[in-house]
Amino acid sequence: MGKQYSKYFAPSLKDARKRVNKKTENLKFSIPDNLIGLGNKLKYHLKTYGCQGNIADSEKISGILELMGFTPTDSDEEADLILFNTCAIRENAENRVFGELGRIKSLKKAKPNLILGLCGCMAQEEKVVETIKRKHPQVDIVFGTHNIHKLPEYLADAYLQKERVVEVYSQEGDIVEDIPVKRGHLKKAWVDIMYGCDEFCTYCIVPYTRGKERSRLPEDIIREVETLVSEGYIEVTLLGQNVNAYGKDLQIEYTFANLLDDLNKTKIKRIRFTTSHPRDLDDETIRVMAKGGNIMPHLHLPVQSGSNTILKRMNRKYTKEEYLEKISKLKKSIPGISLTTDIIVGFPGETEEDFEETLDLVRKAEFEGAYTFIFSPREGTPASKYEDSTPQITKKERLLTLNKLINEGFARGNKKFENEIVEVLVEGASDKNEEIMTGYTAHNKVVNFPGNLSMVGSIVSVKIEKAYTWHLKGKIVK
Ligand code: 5AD
Ligand code: SF4
Repeated sequence: MGKQYSKYFAPSLKDARKRVNKKTENLKFSIPDNLIGLGNKLKYHLKTYGCQGNIADSEKISGILELMGFTPTDSDEEADLILFNTCAIRENAENRVFGELGRIKSLKKAKPNLILGLCGCMAQEEKVVETIKRKHPQVDIVFGTHNIHKLPEYLADAYLQKERVVEVYSQEGDIVEDIPVKRGHLKKAWVDIMYGCDEFCTYCIVPYTRGKERSRLPEDIIREVETLVSEGYIEVTLLGQNVNAYGKDLQIEYTFANLLDDLNKTKIKRIRFTTSHPRDLDDETIRVMAKGGNIMPHLHLPVQSGSNTILKRMNRKYTKEEYLEKISKLKKSIPGISLTTDIIVGFPGETEEDFEETLDLVRKAEFEGAYTFIFSPREGTPASKYEDSTPQITKKERLLTLNKLINEGFARGNKKFENEIVEVLVEGASDKNEEIMTGYTAHNKVVNFPGNLSMVGSIVSVKIEKAYTWHLKGKIVK
């Protein structure tokens, strides 16, 4: 390797924990003229791991790369640039990336001009940067979640100066508007409304890897949604780690409910949002959701556990009873709303009784789907140091028991739609049969029905004939 670093600025989780009182600046993306064209004749392979936030970041990274002349490829062998946009939420996500980095070492030997980069949440961990430095010197560029807009500069260092770059900021940067976005879908778009998280749930690495909560200005979000409408988009999903905290850091009085209300007045046909925090989801937001219109009757509301002891140790700041109270309000205000959640089993100290409380909550809440996880200790978070004597096998058994219950709820949620007529945004043909189309209902249920590819991107009415655990089957009605 032998290459020098042009920049070496490693992260620190200790600094990342601090919340400094610095005003967020709203900057505009720009790229030096001489770097446009740097990627001409070069191909990039961008690999994305993790949540919707990362998918949205990858759309920006692709936008920047294509502005510079790079073209996409799905093949490592063809690529001149391989970039990993990584996730740090659980250990197995990280292990997969290290496995891949090892595998592509040989590619680099065969193709010395190949540039390897790593960005995203893993890059924000000092332990990861140390490991890369020691064991993966084949990685040329490491940058974090706060400086995507500086990618052109890093590529210039790598390709033109033949130097390596590690530049990760532990404290959040400013909000950079107008980064080009290469959207992954023609009708559905991700729209970031805020960055960061200040909740500090004790198991979670996100407040360290994504920094403090910063809201985009309402006018920038509304303008983006209006532009999407004019480009033919039908659905937007508003993104934030805790969308209910939107606006708290703005200089004006403006809340998430205000934003939803304003977007309700635009011509976008479908609005979804994720992720909500049960404590911060307020009555005002429920009232705006109840107006319906383009706000979809589905809510993802992570509960994490049904045990008050565990919730307290997770620093979730609500009880099982308060959570159930909130969803009963939601169900009353938005009849038929579909609720999904996230649950962690095997949090340190979780007893059989605690787990039973979770099962009890799942039964009472009538979730129609959930992402379920076994607790994964994340270095630097408080929970990684909590005493944990539950054997892994017990945790796996709990996960299986929970998943069984969740799947029953999934099936029950689908069953409600038998003989109903639903509106489906058509996504494309099903994997197995070109004459079977597939799409999503307002409640976010998957529907398969006979049709043709000319329907893709439109909303059609489908009468549901049969409900299965994971999807619905029906026929188009005129
Ligand atoms: N271990 C297991 N699951 C986690 N999640 C977040 N941190 C951890 C962790 N350390 C889960 C939570 C969150 C979802 C995105 O990931 O359920 O809602
Ligand atoms: Fe993590 Fe909690 Fe913030 Fe969600 S709300 S990103 S679980 S700290």
